[in-house]
Amino acid sequence: MKKQIEQLSAYEPGLSPRALKENYGIKGELHKLASNENLYGPSPKVKEAIQAHLDELQYYPETGSPSIKEAISKHLNVDPARILFGAGLDEVILMISRAVLTPGDKIVTSEMTFGQYYHNAIVESANVVQVPLQNGEFDLDGILEEIDHDTKLVWLCNPNNPTGRYFTHEALQSFLERVPSHIPVIVDEAYVEFVTAEDFPDTLALQQKFENAFLLRTFSKAYGLAGMRIGYVIAAKEAIEKYNIIRPPFNVGRLSEYAALAALNDQDYLAAIRERNAEEREKFFELSQSNHFYPSQTNFVFVKTDKPHELYEALLNVGCITREFPNGVRITIGFPEQNAKMRDVLEQFTL
Ligand SMILES: Cc1ncc(COP(=O)(O)O)c(C=O)c1O
Repeated sequence: MKKQIEQLSAYEPGLSPRALKENYGIKGELHKLASNENLYGPSPKVKEAIQAHLDELQYYPETGSPSIKEAISKHLNVDPARILFGAGLDEVILMISRAVLTPGDKIVTSEMTFGQYYHNAIVESANVVQVPLQNGEFDLDGILEEIDHDTKLVWLCNPNNPTGRYFTHEALQSFLERVPSHIPVIVDEAYVEFVTAEDFPDTLALQQKFENAFLLRTFSKAYGLAGMRIGYVIAAKEAIEKYNIIRPPFNVGRLSEYAALAALNDQDYLAAIRERNAEEREKFFELSQSNHFYPSQTNFVFVKTDKPHELYEALLNVGCITREFPNGVRITIGFPEQNAKMRDVLEQFTL
């Protein structure tokens, strides 16, 4: 067994609603608001698409997910040879790390960001530099200072999970101008469909000038397909060719591909999700306590407190399972009734 695996632990999803009910003696319904899923689920057209393909389950999927690749290529006006699909971004992050990193290489990312960049780097015996966030935001200048000749990957998360903060187009462009062009800068935009800020980066446009800017997107969040496991990377053709060698032959399931296709084709539904989320998100920032929240462009709100466990339990008591961090609690924005209950708790809690 690789020695470095002993430094890591398996992903801990938190207690299940059933276990939480037993442990805390909760009687009513519990809502899972801990993983930034879209509680409204996918477009209704997804169900129809899945049903239409139920007689094909005995067959492997087409390798390389060609139908959804072609659709994304048209939707985003990107050469299909620059797109690669994974069983969620989790697998995409794994494939990139596996393809690129050798022992002693270095990755640079941030503290308090999506944990899989770190996790996969350690599995590959790479060193990880985690630059502290500045008030919940990626410190791009600080990251730049850490880049040296050992650096093989730079991971940025925009907007950042778990803080919800983002960096602008101008900031990303200026960063890319200063990073040596042979180092891949991977921008994880898992939550991009929830963004309403106008100065959010147009990373696809930046890719035309910066071949080393790689983009990650997923169907797990706003598209409501976390259970189907499908996400993708858009990168330089040469990099995609190499990642494709690492990719397990049938990594994305047949139904996942058709579900994603149907979801992508219903942009009206996606727009409604974005709008509803933005309205509900705004209500959190109208609270008198909102100076304790990081501004958010996502479907979650990070509440800073030095009593995260007490806040977590208070939210659990009104039926909402959230995610506790050492310096706060991340709340996924749910249905209006749940959001209202959580806001009541926040109003009464001394943060
Ligand atoms: C920033 C970020 N990247 C990637 C992922 C993984 O997404 P997927 O469900 O596509 O594997 C998540 C999931 O929470 C995330 O928050």
